[in-house]
Amino acid sequence: MAEQKDGRQAAGQQDRVTRFSAPKGVPDYVPPASAEFVAVRDGLIGAARLAGYGHIELPVFEDTGLFARGVGESTDVVTKEMYTFADRGDRSVTLRPEGTAGVMRAVIEHGLDRGQLPVKLCYSGPFFRYERPQAGRYRQLQQVGVEAIGVDDPALDAEVIAIADAGFRSLGLTGFRLEITSLGDDTCRPQYRELLQQYLFALDLDEDTRRRAEINPLRVLDDKRKEVREMTAAAPLMLDHLSDTAKGHFEEVLGHLDALGVPYTVNPRMVRGLDYYTKTTFEFVHDGLGAQSGIGGGGRYDGLMAQLGGQPLSGIGFGLGVDRTMLALEAEGKVVVGPARCEVFGVPLGDDAKRTLVAIAGQLRAAGIRVDLAYGGRGVKGAMKAADRSGARFALVLGDRDLEEGVIGVKELATGDQQSIPLDTVVAELGARLV
Ligand code: HAM
Repeated sequence: MAEQKDGRQAAGQQDRVTRFSAPKGVPDYVPPASAEFVAVRDGLIGAARLAGYGHIELPVFEDTGLFARGVGESTDVVTKEMYTFADRGDRSVTLRPEGTAGVMRAVIEHGLDRGQLPVKLCYSGPFFRYERPQAGRYRQLQQVGVEAIGVDDPALDAEVIAIADAGFRSLGLTGFRLEITSLGDDTCRPQYRELLQQYLFALDLDEDTRRRAEINPLRVLDDKRKEVREMTAAAPLMLDHLSDTAKGHFEEVLGHLDALGVPYTVNPRMVRGLDYYTKTTFEFVHDGLGAQSGIGGGGRYDGLMAQLGGQPLSGIGFGLGVDRTMLALEAEGKVVVGPARCEVFGVPLGDDAKRTLVAIAGQLRAAGIRVDLAYGGRGVKGAMKAADRSGARFALVLGDRDLEEGVIGVKELATGDQQSIPLDTVVAELGARLV
């Protein structure tokens, strides 16, 4: 089969083979958007690095039981959204729907909880939820997360929240708000739950909502339907029934946020989709995103480690949605520019020149300079166009005659200025100009 010079197969062949597309609800990030993806992900995680969080890299699939037990058997995530399958050894495994359960498993397994506390960890990567795809809701979603384990200190809650806030702001995002509440602890939540159920069971609820009130009554308070909202307007709220300890903790968190200058709105009806939360719980909401407005969320999960067979240590963390952060930036008309693909672009005008430029590119890369070349003998016009498109600052233009004279052209692409310099000084010269 004949191939064209640029690597594309001749027309005709491709029509006869099956074309594949990415699975439904799964975004690809290809250049140039992929550079923004990397910049956004790194910007969000950069804020965590500034506060001493160490990287943790975890399996993308785990024992199904870990998520069922960690995330909660009655949550939508576990009952409806997990990618669960039997592997060839007939073990039930699940593509991770979230990061916290896996982090806790690894902390217990590697005994990190027996060292210095808090254990502060951060991660990024893909997570998988079989949700109905729509704008901002994907089946493979990307998160940046942090977890701080082993110290129950309101100042740590505030640190975690401030990191997320700083991460979004470092990207230039402004149109979001932080909603925060306390879900109480095991000395006050069970009593509150009963109180709320009593209230809800006395209402004229439809069957589905009544069932929800039995399994997870807090969910009913988050119902978006007007009639349910009206019916539950006077429902008792967790915030009014906190134990003294939980109340004191929440007030201190808010005090620290005030001191840190992190704005927030207390939303006593907030409900999170995962069961492990206790005390401080929060969500970052962006109004430019339509229905999928949560760009990040998290909270305390003081019972999770014990539930997964570890010591009874507390924890707090968040997960920020990288995909949704990109959509939020787009909604605000902001572009996060990553570094250009290369800084120098080589344009060889002849075979000997090409050999020399290939070698010079190697030397420049060894000196830490990002270099690309025009391949495929496209001619000077095409090569200069490629140089312009590459985002490089300089083009190196080398003809066979230059080679004989021992010089090379250095063209500043933004201005068009071109200078001829001795060939053997090119690495030092570009190194100096690119600092
Ligand atoms: P989560 O609220 O389920 O929390 O997810 C965190 C963020 O991931 C959401 O705010 C959203 O931005 C993004 N996200 C979730 N599902 C999707 C989806 N289908 N498509 C696009 N983006 C999505 C957690 O996962 C917890 N593990 C966070 C945490 C860490 N809590 C304590 N530590």
